Amino acid sequence: MKPYASRVSEKKRLSVNDLQAMKNRDEKISCLTAYDASFSAVLDKAGIEVILVGDSLGMVFQGHTTTLPVTMDDMLYHTACVSRGCNRALVVADLPFMSYTSLLAAAENAARLIQSGGANMIKLEGARPDVVSFLVGNGVPVCGHLGLLPQFINCLGGYKVQGRELSDAERIISDAVSLEQAGAGLLILECVPASLAQTISQQLTIPVIGIGAGIDCDGQVLVLYDILNIGAGRRPKFSKDFMQGAASIEDAIRNYHIAVKEARFPTIEHSY
Ligand code: KIV
Repeated sequence: MKPYASRVSEKKRLSVNDLQAMKNRDEKISCLTAYDASFSAVLDKAGIEVILVGDSLGMVFQGHTTTLPVTMDDMLYHTACVSRGCNRALVVADLPFMSYTSLLAAAENAARLIQSGGANMIKLEGARPDVVSFLVGNGVPVCGHLGLLPQFINCLGGYKVQGRELSDAERIISDAVSLEQAGAGLLILECVPASLAQTISQQLTIPVIGIGAGIDCDGQVLVLYDILNIGAGRRPKFSKDFMQGAASIEDAIRNYHIAVKEARFPTIEHSY
């Protein structure tokens, strides 16, 4: 790992190319979720490079038990709030449940998130290389999402680690390769064994951002409210309370950013 030193001007909006350059020079990428302008500004000031307007907002912001009730209007509202709050971080917005069942639906909804929401990149769950290549072919940078897929919760039967069986691991690897070949610029890997995430991060050219995916991914993402220890629920094993030892929320977020950049978070304690 090379020592962390950002070479990008603080004023310039980060692009997919900047993230690719970070992977190429072995520099970790820091990412957190945000759902509003105030937190977005704090994350931006702390140096967070990617802000994910995740449909996790359905659980942590709206109080649902899954992400399934989140609508395109919800995503548009929160994406616009986040985009207004930051000027350096790359803003990635989730396509919510059932919003990309056809190429046309995916294109219309991605266009709304970019044109009205100000998103810089769109994220979608699952092995949909058809959708990825269609969006990329129309000028939409796409982030894939494999491993634990919250939008598939009713098929998975619970929030469990994915890819423990050899056949599942092989499927996730081949899905990851197909998303990269379709033109995805970024991949999020959620809740998979650290060894599987290491294989995928090494095999893919594009940056792989982990959440519960061990120490060897090219970057890390967590849900903001988890690192701030907000919420009644149990914090997942892969997360960490960064408020401990921090003087303020801004301090906690900066500590997370620096810990990711210096590869001090996550550790094996946060891995499967
Ligand atoms: O919706 C979300 O916030 C996510 C992250 C947990 C990766 O997809």
